[in-house]
Amino acid sequence: MNTKTRNISHLIEGIATKDGAGVNLTRIIGSPELNMLDPFLLLDEFGSENPNDYIAGFPPHPHRGFETITYMLNGKFTHKDSAGNEGHLSDGGVQWMTAGKGVVHSEMPEQSEGLMRGFQLWLNLPKEKKMIDPSYHDIQADKIPSVLLENAKVKVISGEFQSTEGPGRPHTGVLYLDVHLNKSSSISIPINENWNAFIYVYEGDIESNLSVPKGNLAVLDRDGIFECRSISSDTKFILAAGEPLNEPVARGGPFVMNTKGEVLQAFDDYQSGKLG
Ligand code: FE2
Repeated sequence: MNTKTRNISHLIEGIATKDGAGVNLTRIIGSPELNMLDPFLLLDEFGSENPNDYIAGFPPHPHRGFETITYMLNGKFTHKDSAGNEGHLSDGGVQWMTAGKGVVHSEMPEQSEGLMRGFQLWLNLPKEKKMIDPSYHDIQADKIPSVLLENAKVKVISGEFQSTEGPGRPHTGVLYLDVHLNKSSSISIPINENWNAFIYVYEGDIESNLSVPKGNLAVLDRDGIFECRSISSDTKFILAAGEPLNEPVARGGPFVMNTKGEVLQAFDDYQSGKLG
């Protein structure tokens, strides 16, 4: 068993941007500073106490070639697509959407008791799965198991932590955890060898080989166990780790394929109504 500690290699702060119909968000992966962390293509944090920052939501738009994982910390989320599928999430729920060969959908966030906050993570599909049929998996909060430790709670969205398996069903290996630590508490998280991994601290501050303040993403090294300690009360971070695909990536807005030609084909298919 590997007992090496997996260090943080560097920190990244997200950039403020807008997407959809003018939704204010922070783009953390998919920005000039960190274009991708194979197999993760994008990570956005959205959330505001001001509904004007997001109320117009994400009206109908296409996707092809990857999966989107939307985790609502607070608030609600309604999803509809051109094939008539509809899904609703509320506080603490996750929508796992496999765009595969294509969907045209809308995503509309809503407040619960004045709060709306969450993450959307884009997970690439391997070449042989980019054109599979689209599917959705709405996972309500009570279906996401938590591992309770003396000074920590770990929600397992995908993959396994301390023999508890999450409900997410990725097409490649993915660990996705939401970790809550009490003040001055430590945790050790084993991660598969050679998987790319990051944490994003969304409440409080943690320290490992480097300190990571709230609102920072820490890219981790590729082997060993990740260990950290909270340095504030009510510290929360997400951790995602995935098996790198090591395939060429051609991005064109909402389409992520292996070649430029395949991206152009996706635009053509969308224009001619063959997508979704
Ligand atoms: Fe979308």
